[in-house]
Amino acid sequence: MEESKKRMLSGIQPSGDLHLGNYLGAIKNWADRAQDYECYYFMADMHTITVRQEPAELRRRSLNQLAQYIACGLDPEKNVLFLQSHVPAHTQLSWVLNCYTMFGELSRMTQFKDKSSKYKDNINAGLFTYPVLMASDILLYQPDYVPVGEDQKQHVELTRDIAQRFNSIYGEVFKIPEPLISKAGARIYSLSSPGDKMSKSDPNGCVFIMDDDDTIMRKFKKAVTDSDTENPIRYDKENKPGVANLMNIYSTLTGRSFEEIENEFAGKGYGAFKPAVAEVVIETLRPVKSEAERLIKDKAYLDSVYKDGAERAAYVANKTLRKVYKKVGFYQG
Ligand code: TRP
Repeated sequence: MEESKKRMLSGIQPSGDLHLGNYLGAIKNWADRAQDYECYYFMADMHTITVRQEPAELRRRSLNQLAQYIACGLDPEKNVLFLQSHVPAHTQLSWVLNCYTMFGELSRMTQFKDKSSKYKDNINAGLFTYPVLMASDILLYQPDYVPVGEDQKQHVELTRDIAQRFNSIYGEVFKIPEPLISKAGARIYSLSSPGDKMSKSDPNGCVFIMDDDDTIMRKFKKAVTDSDTENPIRYDKENKPGVANLMNIYSTLTGRSFEEIENEFAGKGYGAFKPAVAEVVIETLRPVKSEAERLIKDKAYLDSVYKDGAERAAYVANKTLRKVYKKVGFYQG
């Protein structure tokens, strides 16, 4: 990897199967980023256990999700892909940074407030210090950019505050990273409630990349549209959000403009349009799905990706950790 490239790092929770919204909204772009940036991506399995998990399921997802990301185009030769729990430096730095993060700061995190009201019977300390582990994930790698969703922006801002605080005491130890908030551009909405983002928590409105062809067709045939029979296939996001979402999916996958799509389906109804959208989705996902299935069966390969990724990640992370340990006064002999 060239030294001159700027560095990017992001974490992903291994919390479920990938869907069309993930694929079109994020992962496809990630594959292109490796040309211009040195990219690190990891599965944040340690963050995931802040909410109770089924262990076998977490293990399965950690592997399956890697297979799915690679199948979506994230090349392990061009990106460093690893599992958070394989690189001990994350928790080692986290302890140190806990001592440079204020109780008040953590109490103000909106995600902590949301999650502690959602999981009232398990408001554990990990949920509270979650942002410190995230700051450690980031700062260990000295990245220039941290691509995250809008919901994680506050955590990256806290990371910057912690880094600045540490640097102001000990000198330039950490690079101050910039959040890169993903644009709303390729937003894909739920097929069953087009006001909401496509999400695995609403499986009927969500097309998973591992869904079989019939399931995809059925989900599109049931997609919520409207009762417009006059001129049904036209782009009007405000008044026809369901149709706009389907047109956006169709346009993204075929490269056709909304106007071309309107012409293509002029005089036709949803009975023609919905299966046409389903067909292009099925065709697009077919090679992704079959590659993911092939990879899932090749456990030895996936293990080697994680092993190699962890080695490359640890090399960078340990450099930062050694510096921090020295700065705070841990005797190194
Ligand atoms: N908290 C992030 C999320 O839920 C995942 C994450 C963990 C992360 N560590 C990170 C993202 C470091 C960016 C950088 O989406």
